[in-house]
Amino acid sequence: MLLSIRSLTKTFPGTRALDAVDFDLAAGEVHALLGENGAGKSTLIKCLTGAYLRDGGTITLDAAPIDPKSTVEAQDLGIGTVYQEVNLLPNLTVAQNLIFGREPRRFGLIDNRAMRAEARAMLAQYGLDIDVSRDLGSYSVAIQQIIAIARAVALSGKVLILDEPTASLDAREVQMVFEVVRGLRARGLGIIFVSHFLDQVFELSDRITVLRNGRKITTERTADLDRMALIEHMLGRALEDEILHPAPEAAAEHAPLLEFQGFGRNGMIAPFDLKIGAGEVVGLAGLLGAGRTESAQLMFGTPPAQDGTARDGSGPLDLHSPRAAIAAGFGFVPEDRKTDGIIADLSIRENIILGLQARQGWARPIPRAEQNRLADDFIRRLDIRTSGREKPIGELSGGNQQKAVLARWLAMNPRFLILDEPTRGIDVGAHAEILRLIHDLTDAGMSLLVISSEIDELVAVADRVIVVRDRRHVAELTGPRVTADAIMRAIATPEEAA
Ligand SMILES: Nc1ncnc2c1ncn2[C@@H]1O[C@H](COP(=O)(O)OP(=O)(O)OP(=O)(O)O)[C@@H](O)[C@H]1O
Ligand SMILES: [Mg+2]
Repeated sequence: MLLSIRSLTKTFPGTRALDAVDFDLAAGEVHALLGENGAGKSTLIKCLTGAYLRDGGTITLDAAPIDPKSTVEAQDLGIGTVYQEVNLLPNLTVAQNLIFGREPRRFGLIDNRAMRAEARAMLAQYGLDIDVSRDLGSYSVAIQQIIAIARAVALSGKVLILDEPTASLDAREVQMVFEVVRGLRARGLGIIFVSHFLDQVFELSDRITVLRNGRKITTERTADLDRMALIEHMLGRALEDEILHPAPEAAAEHAPLLEFQGFGRNGMIAPFDLKIGAGEVVGLAGLLGAGRTESAQLMFGTPPAQDGTARDGSGPLDLHSPRAAIAAGFGFVPEDRKTDGIIADLSIRENIILGLQARQGWARPIPRAEQNRLADDFIRRLDIRTSGREKPIGELSGGNQQKAVLARWLAMNPRFLILDEPTRGIDVGAHAEILRLIHDLTDAGMSLLVISSEIDELVAVADRVIVVRDRRHVAELTGPRVTADAIMRAIATPEEAA
């Protein structure tokens, strides 16, 4: 065995994050590590990379016990990690990012030519032929992710850990990254793959280990598991079928609520018309970078539209800034909740009431009893896994932090809520809960704009789907025409479907 973990234990105040977990990784395998939000996946990885110090247990690499105290030490031992957010420097060149820290020198100076040549040679192993003297940030997230993998492998070279590496990639880009991972597997690396995308897990992994509440539930060969069995291991119960396949509804009638006309901005999105009914769910489909998020940002005043108008039943709406949009009853749960969302050292309660408090002004504090009631209500409704409302939000697992950001916007009870990739990073159980919540919200009259790369999710929730491509709204599918097949075709060939 390349890597063996025995009886790994890690406790935080009030939480046993890992309880005597065993885990084995062979050379030349992709081993998926799965479990609900808060199950302990990131904690296991952090103990392995020295980011957290474990309370107990042993780690053996190549038959020798190891005890990494920092990520650099883990790297030197052969363990490299790539996270969802590319943790390289976008303003340095690709070559600088790849060679950073071990630059070739000539007469004491960095030899740029040698550095570029080495960087090109490194990337050639991954089938990438790009200009390494350009800034890293000028390339797509997928290419940046591959560069991050190349760097991690060059520095470590035995074990590669991928913690939700595909969360911000589209289907084509996922395949690019998978090709790279398969190549590394063939070279004998051991790869740990953490993901909430079960289809990807079945496609890529050789074995699966499931954690639940900090305990190891099972390790099995991927070929021996089916989807339902896997979900049962993860949740400890079966998923109700009806949530995965909601009954197709007849196109409901919605009273008009909002109307955008010729709404657009140069370089962001071509002018579009969009009507949204009360209680209606409009989906935005398209590839990454097509202009979905940009459409939503304009509606929220970040930045304001240059062209067009927005109105409701009583007249024109001022949407020149997020503050104005919030005053108009809009809400926006962003895709990148890490940067746009949480304040890590405030409690869950404070993070949830933050938006509501800001809207009504800090001079009129929300009574503490009301804050407690709101926080407890959302912790229950969204099943946020925490020991209590006063816990700093930074101590929640990634998926549970996202639920808390969603709660903040729901607490403001907007009439129109934009959800950008609402289920990214959310486990299968909570995923179903969020789809159910979307149905409940619209039943109560809230209108939603849902941006999602998961076509099945759009089919499950949307009354109407707008397909965005090359920064234009190119097609609209309504009612019974909202099918996975039709959306896929419209993304590929908009002219046909329009
Ligand atoms: N720094 C910390 N301080 C206190 N508690 C923590 C800390 N980090 C994690 N925890 C707790 O440990 C448990 C496991 O969290 P972890 O981040 O490992 O979950 P995860 O499986 O990675 O979930 P997700 O799918 O949401 O990313 C959770 O209960 C979490 O609140
Ligand atoms: Mg995690």
